Amino acid sequence: MIDQSTINRIIDAANIVDVVSEYVTLRRAGASYKGLCPFHDDKTPSFYVNPARGICKCFSCGKGGNAVHFVMEQEQLSYYEALRFLARKYGIEIQERELTQEERRNQNERESMFAVNEWASLYFHDTLLHTDDGRSIGLAYFRNRGFRDDIIEKFRLGYSLDAWDAMAKTALQRGYKEDYLLRTGLAYKRDNGQVNDKYRGRVIFPWFSVSGKIVAFGGRVLDSRTKGVNQKYINSPESEIFHKSNELYGIFQAKRQMVKEDMVYMVEGYTDVISMHQCGIENVVANSGTALNNAQIRLIHRFTSNITLLYDGDDAGIHAALRGTDMLLADGMNVKVLLLPDGDDPDSFARKHNAAEFRQYVTQHQTDFIIFKVNLLIHEAGRDPRKRSELVSNILQSISVIPDEIVRASYIHECAELMQMDEQMLLRQCNKMRRDYLQKKKTEREREAQRQQHLEQRQQQSDPSLPTAPPPDSTDDVPPVLPDNFPPFDPERPTDNLPPDVPPPDIADAPPPTPSVMHLSHADQRFFGLERLLMMFIVRYGEQAINSIDAEGNNIQLPVAQFISDELAVDNLHFHHALYARMLDEAMAHIGDTGFVSNRFFLSHPDVDVSREASELVDDRYQLSKSQQITAESERLEEYVSHLLLDYKYNVVNEELQRLSRLLADPSVASDAQRCIEVMQQHAQMSGVKRKLARELGDRIIVK
Ligand code: CTP
Ligand code: MN
Repeated sequence: MIDQSTINRIIDAANIVDVVSEYVTLRRAGASYKGLCPFHDDKTPSFYVNPARGICKCFSCGKGGNAVHFVMEQEQLSYYEALRFLARKYGIEIQERELTQEERRNQNERESMFAVNEWASLYFHDTLLHTDDGRSIGLAYFRNRGFRDDIIEKFRLGYSLDAWDAMAKTALQRGYKEDYLLRTGLAYKRDNGQVNDKYRGRVIFPWFSVSGKIVAFGGRVLDSRTKGVNQKYINSPESEIFHKSNELYGIFQAKRQMVKEDMVYMVEGYTDVISMHQCGIENVVANSGTALNNAQIRLIHRFTSNITLLYDGDDAGIHAALRGTDMLLADGMNVKVLLLPDGDDPDSFARKHNAAEFRQYVTQHQTDFIIFKVNLLIHEAGRDPRKRSELVSNILQSISVIPDEIVRASYIHECAELMQMDEQMLLRQCNKMRRDYLQKKKTEREREAQRQQHLEQRQQQSDPSLPTAPPPDSTDDVPPVLPDNFPPFDPERPTDNLPPDVPPPDIADAPPPTPSVMHLSHADQRFFGLERLLMMFIVRYGEQAINSIDAEGNNIQLPVAQFISDELAVDNLHFHHALYARMLDEAMAHIGDTGFVSNRFFLSHPDVDVSREASELVDDRYQLSKSQQITAESERLEEYVSHLLLDYKYNVVNEELQRLSRLLADPSVASDAQRCIEVMQQHAQMSGVKRKLARELGDRIIVK
């Protein structure tokens, strides 16, 4: 764990413009900067960086946050990994904090599995480099294959001693639990109860996830043992932390270069990836002998839309090239195929050539996938009409899944020529297939949506902390009137806090943000929207003093956070949103600390959910250039906060009134006279509170 003062130093040092500029070309736009969003396929600059606030945000896809959040997203790192990344960049020494016993216990199962995998990968690596057997057997094997030391380091290759339990015994001594050794597949239990190493006598290829965690291992038997019963590779079993079909070997080492070159090479195996790195080509991943699936494609697509599939030039390689490719096309990727000279795989080819030669060969020999397929099938079908018709529908099938209409049309054009067929006829056929395809997708989506809805309903029912939605069109729902210029809450745009009559901000060309609380119903959003505004004031101005009156009627000054907390407590209210409730608690726990500054406290909070939410809440995207607007907001703090609280309470009371009305309509209550009277009394009392609040809010609410 990194201690809090180090986190603060890192966040203070990280200049948002500086950090983002490494990945995005920024240009000035008033007080801020803008550029193309690195997180989605951006046509016009939607990505804004606000140096004053230290935050960035895409108005189109919504991604952003402070420098740490940006690095997390961009480098696909965890919160602490991102902090370490920035610490390295700014030369800040990390003060690690020892985990307490409690924290250690609380490390959840996945983390425990990652922890044991991480340890084991280092253990195997150390064994390879620093034990006699490791050096004379494992390292000798890699050296014999021509792997350089820096590459062995980069992929953390290792060796598992040829002993029953060398690794397991050490792991247990170090306090790693047997359960996790078994569940990660690092060890297995024999009938006699002994825990034995799974990969003994093998060289080790650890799998790094996209964020650099060790999710699995591949253990290769040594050549001298290949004959006989041994499987060439043993891979980790599927587990909580490893789903082979979601991972790609090499993605961690490749992602940066994938972005830089905006393309990726796809190969089959561990050694292909490693040899290509060694020859200087780093944007390469392997699917490890299985067909590509959607999760893997999405993973690739986060970094680039261009993929070149590399295969051996033999029959098996050629047919492998056809598998799973339509899914890539359907995802809008540009797919190219490259067959290596017969007898070569990427591993052997890379060892014979340098990067420049390799790239040159690729440029000269890679073919667009559709064209590759047409040529291949034409060749296979020969003159057989049945086979030719199969070929045509096979090709059209591939083209029909491509999302871009112009791309589809130009393929049809090219295919018509290659196959010497009527272009219009092919186009019609393809359009029909496209309709069928879209219909199929739609059905799938609907089914998925239904499933989600069921799931949510069940969660709602079992989670009483979520407020229940009032019946629609209730006249009680007339929103109370807020002071002029007060940010209205618009349920369609829950993050919108633009006062109605401010001049258009300098980022008016940005599309409206997408709601961040999609899963909430309309009514819930209004309710949470008010909480969100209150939380916004706590994060932005939590420590600033405003006037209040104490129990004796004296005028006193209270920090905003304290004021809100007290006001809620008076009426025995709590934030419904669990994160906000926690954030308010934390603000209260630290409000007395000397030098407490709310927005700084939340933005550098160790819990990433908190710091991310805070970065949303300080995001003044609607007021960027209007510094007077910010002054106005903070000058009229007292007025805003008091009204917001009233509005919030008014809504809580409304919720309560509706709950009581529903209760009265409930047959079991209606038939119980005593209970009925109780509820009616509560209702009357609540109505009184509501009227009182309404008067305070400005006497402008229609109360029935
Ligand atoms: N593979 C596997 N299990 C096997 C065989 C293969 O998981 N029993 C996966 C590995 O990821 C391997 C890839 O499929 O890297 C390709 O297999 P292959 O070409 O046989 O292995 P190479 O990577 O070429 O390994 P080597 O050159 O060491 O034989
Ligand atoms: Mn090989």
